[in-house]
Amino acid sequence: MLIKSIPNWAIKEGQETPEAIYLNRRSLIKGFAGALAVGSVGGNIGGALAQAGRAPMDFTHNDAFVLDRELTPEDVNIRYNNFYEFGSHKRISDNAERNLKPRPWQIEIDGLVNKPLTLDVDELIGRVGGLEERLYRHRCVEAWSMTVPWIGFPVQKLVDLVDPLGSAKYLRMETFNDGEMADGIGSQPWYPWPYVEGITMAEASNDLAFLVVGAYGKQVANSMGAPIRLHLPWKYGFKSIKSIVKFSFVEERPVSYWEEISKGREYGFWANVNPEVPHKRWSQANETVLHTQERVPTLLYNGYGEQVAHLYAGMEDQDLFV
Ligand code: MTE
Repeated sequence: MLIKSIPNWAIKEGQETPEAIYLNRRSLIKGFAGALAVGSVGGNIGGALAQAGRAPMDFTHNDAFVLDRELTPEDVNIRYNNFYEFGSHKRISDNAERNLKPRPWQIEIDGLVNKPLTLDVDELIGRVGGLEERLYRHRCVEAWSMTVPWIGFPVQKLVDLVDPLGSAKYLRMETFNDGEMADGIGSQPWYPWPYVEGITMAEASNDLAFLVVGAYGKQVANSMGAPIRLHLPWKYGFKSIKSIVKFSFVEERPVSYWEEISKGREYGFWANVNPEVPHKRWSQANETVLHTQERVPTLLYNGYGEQVAHLYAGMEDQDLFV
């Protein structure tokens, strides 16, 4: 099998700007509604296809998550994506909106658990006891970033539903693998489908680990990983697997999709954000904020160190930031 060792989404060396440009707009945005009120979220210019048919969601806004920058407009988020199942470029949105069928959507939760489950995504949503909105920063390994008003629930709520055994050490997640629904699967046979990701049980139990089912007040758009995706805001974006069909509690550390492609050389298992550890081919010191195009300094753990640094205490011998 031909495996490309360097993903197409990787920026080329030399595209990075060396100097940091500090944020001069530090308006604290307290919530999606507030953001709309101050006019910081652009309207949906175009994107009519991407908006079609997504139901509004019931959720409670969680005030604990504030941003130091503007929310990324919805249309930018929906139309600038990495979703290789639909092609190895950023403009997969129309393809995903046309072809991904996010409902009905069956999810399997299995492995080392007392209560394995197979259920529909809406049943899962009904069983987690309410959805919340959180404003998160999202930092791609390619040195661009966004902010997103996600709607979802902590991963821990899914863990609680199935009662894992003590022998479960990792949570492995898998995206759908259906070439009828996503033409990038058949046309790029050199990639190791399905997309797989994994996290430790301690990471899964951290409050920041979030399963996303909505964004911008509605069901999450197909291009952003409908109907259910992960978001781990302290890690590079490739850990945040989209359109999940299977969660397995396992003993062995899973090999994730990009880890397998790059043989761990460029995209490792941990992938925690660190401005001081460059990617093999570019610096991670700064990032371009999409839409405003500002260059801002990248923060250790993407600014979430207080919540997650303890997870990695004593693990300095591992490549935590690659
Ligand atoms: N999940 C699947 N199934 N397929 C993918 O190609 N791309 C990853 C991640 N999850 C990807 C995926 C990468 S590289 C990033 S940066 C984020 O999704 C992008 O999420 P966004 O398009 O919502 O910004």
